[in-house]
Amino acid sequence: MSETPVIKPKIGEYRRHILVCTGERCTSDGASQVLFDSLGDKFKAAGLTAGPLRVKRTRASCFAACKGGPIVCVQPDGTWYYNVTPENMDRIIEQHLCGGKPVEDLVFHQAQSPDDEDAGACAVAQAPQGSGGNA
Ligand code: FES
Repeated sequence: MSETPVIKPKIGEYRRHILVCTGERCTSDGASQVLFDSLGDKFKAAGLTAGPLRVKRTRASCFAACKGGPIVCVQPDGTWYYNVTPENMDRIIEQHLCGGKPVEDLVFHQAQSPDDEDAGACAVAQAPQGSGGNA
């Protein structure tokens, strides 16, 4: 029996990745899906569909936040936005995705920067080599 080879996927280069929750607990009226559907045109108009600031966009079904939607997350910045109306999305595009500065009054969570001091916090990373057995 021959094994089917696993094909390595490819994606295009991007600067930031925006994730939009389209789950029903965020917005029951479909506003999150409408927001997601609008991003192609908005990003094109802002020059974010190609080049060094290209933004990748993806739908998610739930982030376990579930209120105050539409909710979006901008990675790798770790910035979480709520109440992302079309007007607020325009602010996020101009100030954050183009300008690099989060729109503070729309942020409900900001993850730590990878540069923040967290080295050594992971138990797996701290385990000495060869210590995994039962002594
Ligand atoms: S349904 Fe959107 S975060 Fe849960």
